[in-house]
Amino acid sequence: MTSAFKTLKDLDFGGKRVLLRADLNVPVADGKVTDATRIERIVPTIRELVKHDAKVVLLSHFGRPKGKVDPEFSLEIVVPAIADATGHPVGFIATDWTDVAKAARAIDQAPVGSVLVLENTRFHPGEEANDPELVARMASLGDVYVNDAFSAAHRAHASTEGLAHALPAAAGLAMQAELEALEAGLGAPRKPVVAVVGGAKVSSKIDLLENLVTKVDALIIGGGMANTFIHALGYGIGKSLAEKDLADTAQRILDKADKASCAVILPIDAQVAWHFEANAPHRLYGVDSLDPDGMVLDIGPGSVERIKGAIDEAQTVVWNGPMGAFELAPFDRGTVEVARYVAERTKAGKLVSVAGGGDTVAALAHAGVKDAFTYVSTAGGAFLEWMEGKALPGVEALRA
Ligand code: 3PG
Ligand code: MG
Repeated sequence: MTSAFKTLKDLDFGGKRVLLRADLNVPVADGKVTDATRIERIVPTIRELVKHDAKVVLLSHFGRPKGKVDPEFSLEIVVPAIADATGHPVGFIATDWTDVAKAARAIDQAPVGSVLVLENTRFHPGEEANDPELVARMASLGDVYVNDAFSAAHRAHASTEGLAHALPAAAGLAMQAELEALEAGLGAPRKPVVAVVGGAKVSSKIDLLENLVTKVDALIIGGGMANTFIHALGYGIGKSLAEKDLADTAQRILDKADKASCAVILPIDAQVAWHFEANAPHRLYGVDSLDPDGMVLDIGPGSVERIKGAIDEAQTVVWNGPMGAFELAPFDRGTVEVARYVAERTKAGKLVSVAGGGDTVAALAHAGVKDAFTYVSTAGGAFLEWMEGKALPGVEALRA
């Protein structure tokens, strides 16, 4: 797949002004970046560009300021974290994106090898509208465009899509690594492929499940969404979180899986509690005899063993979503045990494991295995759209 995309090797960037689209949309609390993973991932690209005397001009959105200048969403706040991660001084260029003459002068005056951050691209409504005038203004600030923001590639915005058509463009090293990992996960994976999907709701993952059942050999379903399937199969689920109105949808997904010869592995037992809180009293039940007053908070040990058995057969595992209420001990156990098993098999060279999407990274970090998977994506929405089989505009625009 990567050969189908332009990479840094296809781009002449030495001594040039490089507009580097990063995803600097990182969590911040009390004025400080609390998780710099997205910043750390772009360090190799920044180093490579600096090494060749490029001027690196970082472009990113930050939060959702809705096309207005709003100091609360200024990207200046992430500058120290970029300097820390790169060990390189980092400058900041304020702009409201209506007139970029001052920004252009600041870039011209900066010495080669400089690293500069431009203000939040979403301070102008043209960003989300992919407005050609804003694209042209952005393009006037650079000679070439590099995109290292897979996690924003599901947006067809000026800085993620439009610019790739306005300047010579390529994927950065982080984008390239991500595309290669995703290709190994679902594009052209080693079979059998097992998908592990959890999280609260079926409703947010219908497209994803419908796509996966046509692509993978086995689909493991856990988390709150498994309750909807168990209900659809006619079992009582008590007071468990579920979307009972989606029983037909769940059944349709099961039928589609059946036709595609995809084995669906649902929990066979569950940890049930009567209060949604950490350390709540709990008991193990079979899913065919759940307590009518209780709620399922985690998969049980029998389910974990079944899942491990499926993973033993796999050469590729793709993971999105936790198996239970992993933020509440001890209902993190199912998620932790399955995650550690995937990590163990990965380390032993038995499989390729790719994970991503919102809660998933937090769940894997909680299990202590975030670095033991083959690849963990920091993307939320973009990872889900990729799992849904959708083309991502920011990626499509980088095709050779
Ligand atoms: C993310 O954090 O998922 C990306 O930066 C995209 O942000 P958005 O959902 O506001 O477009
Ligand atoms: Mg998002």
